[in-house]
Amino acid sequence: MRRSPSLTTLAHALITEVIAPGDTVLDATMGNGHDTAFLVSRVRPGGTVWALDIQAQAVAATRRRLGLIHDCRVELRCMGHENLSTLDTGPLRAAMFNLGYLPGADHGTTTRPATTCTALDAVRDRLLPGGRCTVMAYTGHPGGAEEARQVAAWCQALPSAEWDWRLANPPGTPETAPRLFVISRAERAA
Ligand SMILES: C[S@@+](CC[C@H](N)C(=O)[O-])C[C@H]1O[C@@H](n2cnc3c(N)ncnc32)[C@H](O)[C@@H]1O
Repeated sequence: MRRSPSLTTLAHALITEVIAPGDTVLDATMGNGHDTAFLVSRVRPGGTVWALDIQAQAVAATRRRLGLIHDCRVELRCMGHENLSTLDTGPLRAAMFNLGYLPGADHGTTTRPATTCTALDAVRDRLLPGGRCTVMAYTGHPGGAEEARQVAAWCQALPSAEWDWRLANPPGTPETAPRLFVISRAERAA
């Protein structure tokens, strides 16, 4: 599983469209903190970034990457995103998922379809009107293709009056490439 630079850039651009300084946002898979750092850069000053990961080494790497931040609230938690509903995040303007395993660590410790979909349920319940969630899903590691399939099924079940989703991959993207799901909540239900 490789981090895909162009799709990552695209995910950041799509999230940038909907967030502003002062917003509250979530990185549901903190990893080495690239997406967390991006979110901090966009919601400061005055915003809040929640970031979750099940591995302590991910939290430590992210803490190192961020350094000291004084103008933004940053809540790094070593916990599964499937437990998001236990956190008092309040409404979210945006959320990012970058599925799979932590680069440079045990490849057997990956996100899983059931817990990913539980976390997506919690994000759906917290996302503000006009908010957006991106999900980068990798298909090259064991279980990855099934997880991408279940994320697609989860998206298809969203009520279309209030939700819009699409795959942001450029045309001609090979089957084996990562998939970038973009899930947006309407400003108002149609
Ligand atoms: C591809 S990495 C994330 C990369 C990260 N977004 C970045 O910018 O560096 C996927 C991460 O998901 C984490 N993960 C796996 N299961 C999880 C769960 N249930 N809840 C939260 N994080 C989980 C892994 O430990 C791994 O660090």
